[in-house]
Amino acid sequence: MLVRFRSPGSVGVSLFFWALVLSAGLCSELKVRVRLADGRITEELLEADSERDSITLEYRQADGTLITFLADFKQDVKIFRALILGELERGQSQYQALCFITRLSHNEIISSESMARLRQKNPHTIRTAEEKRPTETLSMNVAVNVTLAWQLSTLIYNTCSLAHDGVYTREADMRHWLDTGIEGSVFETLPQAVEVPGLQSCRSVKDLWQSCSCSYSVRLEWYPCLLKYCRNKDSLGHSAPYKCGIKSCSKGYDFTYYTPHKQLCLWEEEA
Ligand SMILES: *[C@@H]1O[C@H](CO)[C@@H](O)[C@H](O)[C@H]1NC(C)=O
Repeated sequence: MLVRFRSPGSVGVSLFFWALVLSAGLCSELKVRVRLADGRITEELLEADSERDSITLEYRQADGTLITFLADFKQDVKIFRALILGELERGQSQYQALCFITRLSHNEIISSESMARLRQKNPHTIRTAEEKRPTETLSMNVAVNVTLAWQLSTLIYNTCSLAHDGVYTREADMRHWLDTGIEGSVFETLPQAVEVPGLQSCRSVKDLWQSCSCSYSVRLEWYPCLLKYCRNKDSLGHSAPYKCGIKSCSKGYDFTYYTPHKQLCLWEEEA
């Protein structure tokens, strides 16, 4: 007998299910309403492309910033892009684009194939994640040449070519990629706080033309991080597990990177 408790977790199970569709070249999108940390509601667009073996998650923040997260399962790379509206009255361009590239580990997010089959029963429900994962701090002290970045992931160029000089990765990721045969010309190591004595956090810098260490935070408020399995006993008493829903997670990322001018890191002032 299946007992369904009315806890938020089990409601989550019953609200998502799998569409019975054939998997060849599956492409699908899901719109999920989520509550952001500041209480506002935003609509997240989750797209799965099972042929490219990738997932895209996109949402707009209240300040107009467009956040895009891309998981490339073919090359085990994840991409975060922020399109930040510039302050024209402060001499900034119309928007600023930042791209952070890092390795995708297994079990961070459900597969593109599972994602492509996911449907929700009530698209108007406002969702909050079942599990809040700890915020990760990432020191992005290597610049990536976006023209050559196809070697890491073929999805980087289209996603990050707007971010002319703001494509970053971590040193540990670079070392891993160099070990797998990626050319060194893809990367350029940036000055770090330890190498540039006096490199301050942009928060404490007053001069807009001074270099500093900038931080940018991204929060993925809701994403399917795990599959849930149920069991049904057949007439012979055998039970086989089957996919019956997803677990949703939320996770924050704090990226820190070198910037040549505080002018490119004005959000640190408003924080
Ligand atoms: C990136 O690589 C391209 C192609 O090799 C090169 O022309 C360009 O100068 C490089 N950009 C930077 C900033 O090094």
